[in-house]
Amino acid sequence: AAGVARDGAGQLTVQGIPAAELAETFGTPLLVVDEDDFRARARAFKSGFEAAFADLCGGADVYFAGKSFLTLSTARWAAEEGLRVDTASGGELAIALRAGVDPAHIGLHGNNKSDAEMLDALTQGVGRIIVDSVDELRHLAELAAQHGLTAPVMLRLTPGVHAHTHEFIATAHEDQKFGLSLAPATGDDDGNVTGRSPASVAVEAALAAESVELIGVHCHIGSQIFEADGFALAAQRVLAFLAEVRDAHGVELAELDLGGGHGIAYTAVDAPRPPAQIAAALAEAVRAATAEHGLACPRISIEPGRAIAGPAGLTLYTVGVTKTVDVDAPDGTTAARRYVAVDGGMSDNPRPVLYDADYTAVCANRAPQATPVLSRVVGKHCESGDIVVKDVYLPSDVARGDLLAVPATGAYTHVMGSNYNALPRPAVVAVTGGAARTIIRRETVADLLDREVDPQDPAR
Ligand code: LLP
Repeated sequence: AAGVARDGAGQLTVQGIPAAELAETFGTPLLVVDEDDFRARARAFKSGFEAAFADLCGGADVYFAGKSFLTLSTARWAAEEGLRVDTASGGELAIALRAGVDPAHIGLHGNNKSDAEMLDALTQGVGRIIVDSVDELRHLAELAAQHGLTAPVMLRLTPGVHAHTHEFIATAHEDQKFGLSLAPATGDDDGNVTGRSPASVAVEAALAAESVELIGVHCHIGSQIFEADGFALAAQRVLAFLAEVRDAHGVELAELDLGGGHGIAYTAVDAPRPPAQIAAALAEAVRAATAEHGLACPRISIEPGRAIAGPAGLTLYTVGVTKTVDVDAPDGTTAARRYVAVDGGMSDNPRPVLYDADYTAVCANRAPQATPVLSRVVGKHCESGDIVVKDVYLPSDVARGDLLAVPATGAYTHVMGSNYNALPRPAVVAVTGGAARTIIRRETVADLLDREVDPQDPAR
């Protein structure tokens, strides 16, 4: 994050607050969020995309993808910076609403929304419901009709673009659960051979349903994407589809959401394109495709999550046990690897074990003076896969009581945390104006016990 530096004594600081002071005040593991950095990244997306699309379609809307790091505070920061908020469940929707986000500026996603979630969105006046299948479209139309309401719908399309990223988070190729394919299907959901694409079947059904207002289409090609070409190709394909819709039905849909997925640097080898460059390349692709098809440019929106929240966070851990283990080097010799165990792990950041994600770590409470040695930072869970940072050079004298900081942990950590091994989840603190305050309190073992229904304790 922008506010991270080293002070005169070599200690890591966040907006001038020493790491040791944060650890002392709030405990560890601790997720520290630089609020100013979060807000600056939100603003950069907003201004970058607004500028790139100003001439073409009067600007662009940016939704903060709540799934990456949704709390009352982050939702408010996003909204205060002029962003809208994307939600993926009734729980996320409740957080965004409680934060005071204008319902008209909230989107509801999900490939399997419950009736309660859909009804909640309809009655609360959520601005966009992103529909994922023909089945869901029909069901939502029925629900809305039963309640005398109109569903504001975006259809999520799969343009068949393979984002160059980890397979589990690449979502716009064909054989996966999300979206409506643009490719003709061999059979529809009822088993009839139609030769039509699920996307065109859904458009027809949406236009025919009186309780549905079809606002536009959506696509999301994956996550942690560094280059603009995948986004541009998806935009081209979806715009070609909008031209087909116009030719078949005589309607030009008003909006096109190009999803999230903008990548960040977790380690020094990562070099994602800055948002403004992605915006410029996308605007060029949209300009060319709309000209080719004679379409008016739809209103463009995007949904970045990681690229706003990720770099703004860092996790502070306290070192416990260290040990050195012999490993077989590729050249047949034996080398040593230092294991540095910290007081958290896969329960506060499951990304290394789930996606083989790389992070780095630095010694945070003092200047790193001793010789750097190849180290592996591990957690305290009962699994050998419980790795925080696979390979990192840490000073050889890092020892019990030292603090380690793992940067870029704002996204998909707090929201994916668990209580594995009955570890209470860490606190989250926000730093702004040189002061830190708790935004999520640390969980306690009492919180965990509180959910137990104990048959041996009649008092409960
Ligand atoms: N919009 C939609 C429809 C999405 O499915 C996602 C992410 C986003 C926006 C935001 O993507 P972002 O800008 O944050 O990349 N847990 C995984 C990431 C899963 C992303 C799922 N969808 C991870 O930790 O890498």
